[in-house]
Amino acid sequence: MLKLVIPFFALVLVVACGGTPTPEPGSPSPANPSPASPSPGNPVISSDPVAAHQAALTLWRKPIPKGSCSACHGPDFFDLARIGSSDATIIRRALADSATPDEAAALVQAVKNLRVKHNLPLENPLEFRPFQPGGALLAGATPIERDIALGRQLERLQPTLMGARIDSLGAAQRARDEMLSVDLRSMPVGIAYPRWSADVFNGAAHGTMNDWVSDVARVAPPESLSAWRALEDAYLANPSNEHFWRMYAAVDALTAMKDITQAEAIRFASNKFKATLIGQHLLRTQALGRGDAMQGPLAFSYLQTSPYQNLLKTTEFLPGKEIWEVGDLTRAVLGGAGLEKTSVKTDALAKGFPNFVADSLDAGLSVEDNEQAMRLAWFWLGFTIDPSVNRISGSNSTKVSEYLVASLIEERMFLHNAFMTHQRMLHQGFTAGGTYKGNPKFTLNYSYFIGYNRQRLNWNESKFVKFDPALKSAQQDLWTRFTLNGFRMSLYLYLETLNAMTPAELAKEKLLETQKGTTLISTTYTVLTDSLNYYQPEHKIADDALIQRVVTKLGF
Ligand code: HEC
Repeated sequence: MLKLVIPFFALVLVVACGGTPTPEPGSPSPANPSPASPSPGNPVISSDPVAAHQAALTLWRKPIPKGSCSACHGPDFFDLARIGSSDATIIRRALADSATPDEAAALVQAVKNLRVKHNLPLENPLEFRPFQPGGALLAGATPIERDIALGRQLERLQPTLMGARIDSLGAAQRARDEMLSVDLRSMPVGIAYPRWSADVFNGAAHGTMNDWVSDVARVAPPESLSAWRALEDAYLANPSNEHFWRMYAAVDALTAMKDITQAEAIRFASNKFKATLIGQHLLRTQALGRGDAMQGPLAFSYLQTSPYQNLLKTTEFLPGKEIWEVGDLTRAVLGGAGLEKTSVKTDALAKGFPNFVADSLDAGLSVEDNEQAMRLAWFWLGFTIDPSVNRISGSNSTKVSEYLVASLIEERMFLHNAFMTHQRMLHQGFTAGGTYKGNPKFTLNYSYFIGYNRQRLNWNESKFVKFDPALKSAQQDLWTRFTLNGFRMSLYLYLETLNAMTPAELAKEKLLETQKGTTLISTTYTVLTDSLNYYQPEHKIADDALIQRVVTKLGF
């Protein structure tokens, strides 16, 4: 088999690099590729882009043992065009997934045509990380160095928080406005986003589920196939947001997960499939120069408004939540207590993923490391889509981003953590849509950010894990400036919330705080006081007075 493929494959490369093959009379039409093997000397590639596209799309939808290309990658092969898949890779993967050599050649040609048609930059798929804010990671070889780089960036972007002690409501509001004006989808960070395709063929580091293409197919059964294809066709003919969300809205009704039966694995894979669809739509719209697929801080909240509001049922939870959930379900579905050191390959099989998924994973990758990488990447991605993290799921730990906090601390990315936490609170408190019902209301909701004594930095060093003291001190300097002023900003803003309340509302607020448990209130204020007094004792009198104003206003 392989021997037959290699000479053919060499020829395709030659043809694809400029030759214009003319199908001989009687050879199978590209629109209807013959399932029989062609003669190696006569690859059927049409110079007519429409015919090549049609042939490639026919392959893309062809039933194959794993489902179909479209059932994992999305409605067409725009992803392969955008990420820069090489001819060799496309042929290798297509043949491995039951394409004939003719079909593979047509796909190569159609992908090239798409690149020309849309003037796509040629990426290296091994390097390219779609949607990585600013196009590249912040500089730095280690997470701590990249965290420091974020801090330096914040000095420019958040001059108020990074400046003198915030000592008035006006300064707090200025700091808030600077924070809310940050475009989270373009501000570089130190967290590596997933590649579109991580293929273990390229080495152990690529043997992970931390990529965008769905691991398992979601196929339309015969009775709903034509309805599903009609939605895909409408979308491909005009990839508007409207057509996209119509297709997305029909996923649950018209398609079903193939090759897995365990409920938890299905949950993971269904979320990832929807994430893939959204990802492909974003790849496409961005490459077409359209910035309309994500609008405003809550990227997809426009789906609640005209003319989109009838396309799909939005509830408290908005589409796009799947992207965060890929991170969360990696935690909840893969792995588990006691399995940290287990190979993710073994674990995936145990959790009900098919053999071909296990085969795509590196045996040396532990559940723990896989989970940490995926949590960081997908949580951060999800956070940039809904920075309030309030419209993702009913889980209380999501609403305070408990596990993102934990993952950032695990990497000692303390500035990323402080930045994300303040962004979350501000978007919950001030951004339209940041709360589902009622008006946004700013509260002091630091939660896990200050839990477990985290108001003081702790690098958690040991005999084996040590960090450079100079880096630690640079990081601490940046973190304390940002975070302590973040605390003060929040205290002033919360005081403003309280000042705007009627006595009845204030009593209710006090009751709410009491219901959370008086220990929680005293904990919040005790902990903030501890941090402020410990790191900046020179401001003790003013900081204590500020906290006292809030506590008194609440009536404690
Ligand atoms: C069951 C799901 C599934 C099906 C079906 C599937 N793929 Fe993929 N494909 C993937 C995943 C997942 C990746 C990412 C790499 C990995 O995990 O191995 C991928 C990667 C690829 C790549 C590598 C891109 C790159 O440059 O790294 C190509 C090319 C590709 N697929 C083409 C195809 C074609 C063509 C078909 C249909 C004949 C197909 N795939 C069917 C899931 C699928």
